[in-house]
Amino acid sequence: MRFSIVGKRETVVFINHIYLRRKKIMNIKNWKTIQKSILAMFIGILILVGGATFASAQKVAKNIKPKAKTTKTKTVEPQKAKTLYERLGGYDAISAVVESFADKLFADPIIGKFFVGMGTDTRKQFKQKNKNLVCNVTGGKCDVISRTAKVVHGGLGITEKDFGIVVQHLVDTLNEFKVPEAEQKELLAIIGSLKPDIVEKK
Ligand code: HEM
Repeated sequence: MRFSIVGKRETVVFINHIYLRRKKIMNIKNWKTIQKSILAMFIGILILVGGATFASAQKVAKNIKPKAKTTKTKTVEPQKAKTLYERLGGYDAISAVVESFADKLFADPIIGKFFVGMGTDTRKQFKQKNKNLVCNVTGGKCDVISRTAKVVHGGLGITEKDFGIVVQHLVDTLNEFKVPEAEQKELLAIIGSLKPDIVEKK
């Protein structure tokens, strides 16, 4: 054999030497005990590494969770119902409707008589008070700056017919501005509820 430069005897001596040396270095009589210890250590390391991996995986999952939740909430959350004010188009839309409606009242042959003697600024105030009122009663953030309907109309002798003409001008204006039927009905119900405070004569 090519590698048998060293004889059988030398090999045995060498192995014995290694074995004895190992025994000497470790100074442990029972080799099986150390094997068991190494195995126990190895299992311990495995448990530690496994635990750490599990913990970090949970941390990552935790970081991901809120993002997924936000996305879910965004899509699933029901839309808040819009106020009549919002559906009418907000303050600017209401302002434009009231401007046009009030001009119709001033120009009406029957209703216009009630406004005779009102100067430009007083008419401007009348419009502003009506804008604030409509904004407020439909859910907008406007303060009512007018007196109560009963106080302001008291003594004018407004009839049911007069009231009907005013309401018709409002309906015409809402149609001109293409306000949908549902929103018109809601607004007219609110305005109609003021009738007992405004009408004094049959
Ligand atoms: C349809 C519902 C009506 C509403 C929501 C309404 C609303 C208002 C508001 C907010 C004012 C201003 C109050 C103030 O100056 O503090 C006002 C004044 C007035 N309204 Fe009406 N009104 C209604 C019906 C009528 C009708 C039917 C007439 C007449 C036929 C009328 C005639 C007047 C007059 C003449 C004034 C001025 C009173 C004054 O400043 O002396 N209103 N109204």
